[in-house]
Amino acid sequence: MLIGGGLSAAAAQTILAQNPPMAHLPPMPAAPPQLDLEHLAPFVDPLPIPPIAKPIGTRLNPARKTEVPFYKIPIQEFFSKIHRDVQPTRFWGYGNSMPGPTIEARSGEPIFVEWLNQLPPKHFLPIDHNLMGAEKGKPESRTVVHVHGGRVPPASDGWPESWYGPGKSATSQYPNEQEAALLWYHDHAMGINRLNVCAGMAGLYVIRDSFEDSLNLPKGEFEIPLVLMDRMLRADGQIYYPVTVLPDAPWIPEYAGDAVLINGKLLPYLNVQPRKYRFRVANASNGRFYFLSLENGAVMQQIGTDQGLLPAPVNVNLLSIAPGERADIVVDFREHRGQQILLRNLATTLMQFRVATEAADDPSSLPMELRPVPKMTESSATVTRKLTLEEVDDLLSEPMVHLLDGKRWHEPVSEKPVLGSTEIWEFLNLTDDTHPIHLHLVRFQILDRRPIDVLSYIHKKQLIYIGDAVSPEPSEAGWKDTVRATPGASTRIIVKFEGYTGRYVWHCHILEHEDNEMMRPYEIVPPVTKSQTHRAV
Ligand code: C2O
Ligand code: CU
Ligand code: CU
Repeated sequence: MLIGGGLSAAAAQTILAQNPPMAHLPPMPAAPPQLDLEHLAPFVDPLPIPPIAKPIGTRLNPARKTEVPFYKIPIQEFFSKIHRDVQPTRFWGYGNSMPGPTIEARSGEPIFVEWLNQLPPKHFLPIDHNLMGAEKGKPESRTVVHVHGGRVPPASDGWPESWYGPGKSATSQYPNEQEAALLWYHDHAMGINRLNVCAGMAGLYVIRDSFEDSLNLPKGEFEIPLVLMDRMLRADGQIYYPVTVLPDAPWIPEYAGDAVLINGKLLPYLNVQPRKYRFRVANASNGRFYFLSLENGAVMQQIGTDQGLLPAPVNVNLLSIAPGERADIVVDFREHRGQQILLRNLATTLMQFRVATEAADDPSSLPMELRPVPKMTESSATVTRKLTLEEVDDLLSEPMVHLLDGKRWHEPVSEKPVLGSTEIWEFLNLTDDTHPIHLHLVRFQILDRRPIDVLSYIHKKQLIYIGDAVSPEPSEAGWKDTVRATPGASTRIIVKFEGYTGRYVWHCHILEHEDNEMMRPYEIVPPVTKSQTHRAV
C-alpha cells in the first residue's frame, strides 16, 4: 500500500476507515458489448459547428445601471446523432446540442446567463454515494455551471456545493473583464461532476477583444472550434460509464473511451479551402490527454493557450493537450490543394480535412508577433506554497483516493492569498500520473518543472531536487489556467490573485480525481489595510 507524503499515519487510517481497501476494485470486466469502431464508415458526417447562443433580451446590471445581454440556457436531455450509422445517443447537455451553444462575449462587456435545470429526475450514469457531496437523498440530476477560465465573482463561479435540482435555475453574471481567450463552460456539481460532463454538459465561451481583432487572424467560417470528448459507447450507441464489481461503490479512478467525438461527431470530415484556418481546440474529456498531429506534413502553428494569445506563433508537430486545457492553432492548407489530411491522436485517426483543389483568396494574416506576455518575476511573489499531489491506493494498488496537499475537500481552507498579491505555488507530484491542475478565477504562468526524490519526500518530508529545472515548452509559455503537473516532479506556477475576494476552488481536471477529493477550496482575502474588496462589475 502506498500512502502519499504529507499524510500522517493517523490520517491514512482515517482515510482507510472511510474507504475500506476493498471498496474500489478495477472496473467490472464484463462490460456490455461496445460499438464496433473498426467497422464504422469514417468521414461520412461533416464536422458540426456548435450553434452560437443568442440573448433573449437585456437585463439591468445594478453595478453599472446599464442594460446587458441576457441569455437563458436550458440544461436538458436530448438525443443526437454522433454518426450516420449509429442510432441517436442520449445526452444531458446545454440547449439541444453537444457541445452546447457557444457563448460569444467581448472583453469588458458583461452578460447574464440563466441556467435552467430541466433534467429528468433519475441519472443515467452510475452515481457513487460514497463520494463526498454525492450522498444519498440529494436530487440525482443536480447541476451547477462553471465557466472555466472566467474571471467571475464567487457567487457566479459555480461553487460545487451550490448545485440545484430539476425545475430550478440560477443566474450568473459574467463580467468578461479579461483578455480575449477561449473559455469553456461545464458542470461542476460536487461528486457527480464526472458523470454530468460525460453525459454531455460542456460548451464553449469565447471572449474577443479589439487587440485580437487588429491581428486579422482567420475568422468567421475560417475559425473552427474543435471540442474533444472521448466516450465509451455501447453497441447501441449509448454512453457507457464503467463501474467496479461492487454495486455500492461504482467509482472508477479514470474514464477513457475509444470513441473520440469532435464537436459531438465520430470521425467527421471538414471541407476546407487552401488557405489559413484558425482552430480553437478544447479538451473537454474526463481524463484523456491528446497528442495531436496532422498528416502530409501539414504544420500546426500554435498561437494561443488557455488564457489567450502567445507572444509569437510556435510550430508544433505534436500538440499535447490535457483535460481542461485549450490550444489555439493556425493551419495553412495552401500547399495542400486537393489533399485529404487526417488529424490523429497518436496512432488513432480522429477526423479528416478535405482541401479543395481550386486556389482560394486568403486575406487573413498570421503575424510573427502576437500579444506580449510580460514575464512575471519570482521576486514579485510574497508567498510560496508547496502543495503535494498524492494518491492513496487500496490493497491491489488501485487508486482509492487522490488528495491535494494531503487534505480532503471538507477540511478548513488552507490557501488564503491576499487580493492583489502574487504567489508561487509549487506542486509536488508524488504520484505516477500527470495531473492537470486548474485554479478558478486566475491566470498564471508556469515557472518550471524539476524532478524530485519522491521517497525522501514521502518518508522524511525532505524536498530533494534530482535534476535541473526545465522551463515550460514555448507552446505553454503564455497565460494558463490549467497546468500539467508531471509525475515525480515539482511544477511551479506564479499567480497574481486579481479580481474578487471570496471562495474559489482548485483541483485536478481529471474529473474522476476531482470528484473523489482531488479538489480543494481556496479563499482570496482582502488586504489588511484599507479594504477595497469587491470590484464593481
Ligand atoms: Cu474546468 Cu473547476 O473547472
Ligand atoms: Cu475552472
Ligand atoms: Cu488527477
